[in-house]
Amino acid sequence: MKKTIIAFTILLIGSTFCVYTQSNQQNKITTPEAYRPVYHFTPDSMWMNDPNGLVYHKGIYHLFYQYYPHATVWGPMHWGHATSLDLVHWKHLPIALYPDSLGYIFSGSAVVDQNNTSGLGTKNNPPLVAIYAYDNPVLEKSGSNKFQYIGMAYSLDNGKTWTKYAKNPIVPNPGIRDFRDSKVMWDAHTHQWIMTIAAGDEVQFYASSNLLHWTFQSDFGKSIGAHGGVWECPDLFPMKVSGTNQTKWVLLVSINPGGPNGGSATQYFVGNFNGHQFAPDDMKTRWIDYGKDDYAGVIWSDIPVKDGRRIFLGWMSNWQYGTQVPTVKWRSAMTFPRTLLLVKDNGNYVLESRPIREITKLHAEAVSIKGQQVKGIKNISGSIPFALSPMEMNVTFSVGIKTENTFGIQLSNDMNEKLIVGYDVAKKQLFVDRTKSGIVSFSTNFPAIAKAPCILKNNQLKIHILIDAASIEVFAQNGKTVLTDIFFPTKPYKALSLFSESETINISNFNVWKLK
Ligand code: FRU
Repeated sequence: MKKTIIAFTILLIGSTFCVYTQSNQQNKITTPEAYRPVYHFTPDSMWMNDPNGLVYHKGIYHLFYQYYPHATVWGPMHWGHATSLDLVHWKHLPIALYPDSLGYIFSGSAVVDQNNTSGLGTKNNPPLVAIYAYDNPVLEKSGSNKFQYIGMAYSLDNGKTWTKYAKNPIVPNPGIRDFRDSKVMWDAHTHQWIMTIAAGDEVQFYASSNLLHWTFQSDFGKSIGAHGGVWECPDLFPMKVSGTNQTKWVLLVSINPGGPNGGSATQYFVGNFNGHQFAPDDMKTRWIDYGKDDYAGVIWSDIPVKDGRRIFLGWMSNWQYGTQVPTVKWRSAMTFPRTLLLVKDNGNYVLESRPIREITKLHAEAVSIKGQQVKGIKNISGSIPFALSPMEMNVTFSVGIKTENTFGIQLSNDMNEKLIVGYDVAKKQLFVDRTKSGIVSFSTNFPAIAKAPCILKNNQLKIHILIDAASIEVFAQNGKTVLTDIFFPTKPYKALSLFSESETINISNFNVWKLK
């Protein structure tokens, strides 16, 4: 009898699941694990958005993230938690922060309070401190404007358990409806903590000596940058200009909507910060990634000086359709971690993004494809003795003089689904075309061609590509132009083709790695 009941229950759960997945996938049955990336971070199950509290502590990289553990769509926010020894392999840990009477736990940051300035730990056991936004739905319903404010929690056991600070909030709402996503850093130049907060479609800077008491310094953003939506998830930090001893300050600001290809995206400014105010070098709006799927990215805190890298992680989705993508058991992944470099390019300081060097830990087989010339379309899958996903590749295209040519790479399957990475010479644009990439109809904003300005150097286009089960990250010209897009083919792409519409182009330095 017991066995029959168990069998019946399993049948019932199974069939409910099947009906659910069928209706969810426009009649395509998707297994719970379909589209699970191999080397991009995903929650084991349920909903994830922004990376939060990125901090390195005692040899461990912590990744917290906006998490709703009860559904695969956004809901009352918690901080999920994972750790890694190498930024490549992740271990899931219990939820770190739960909503409380002050509200849901929105985005924020974490720092090691090395000198115990807060007094929340001891000299010998300095606390890990998380500074996050509260979002209070009760206050919001009551009609108040002041339902978001900044709170704090600390951990004395290396991030395992967290205690909310008794006197929260630490920064009350100043009367601004959208007031959130506190990113804190230690400013070694002025010996104080600096907090950057998204405030409407601007940011505000606060300063503190002890992480507990904060004073307003200035705001930034009124007549600069993109303003198609609210500003979110800012990050302010100093960077050495590559190959020099000069330091500049970089301010990342995500914006939603208002990205260059629609919906969510992250702009950045380069300038100087004097402990009180940020002064940009120019008025130009620059984007860290032109793809549709890199949002709310920030850098890891407390990376040791001898490492010195600025390591960036973004949410690989877009608020236009993040809650509708056709995965079943969980929703969304993070980008692959990226090293940011600040370089001088034609008199301007610009950021370059590159996959972190630890990617080599994932290298399995490799092939080097020599001496390809293409006019028209050429399937080269025969030269690659392994599956196209997960995969990394480096390709250099040398082009001639035709100004109307479009060339690039195409991934396709026998369902006529394709993903195209191309370069339009006349428009000086790099693009990712996913209009026919597979399942695209879950949102009218999904089937799109994401375009980015990109300049050839010595008639060459160098691209570095990361492919996983449902994502492509394209780093062009050393990472000066980046395009990140997600996709959902009904069958894995099996063919890799090179194409050049109107002239013969040469492909040199074509290296492909199968990733573990
Ligand atoms: C950005 C964001 C943040 C907010 C969080 C809520 O994606 O909207 O501004 O803190 O998500 O989950």
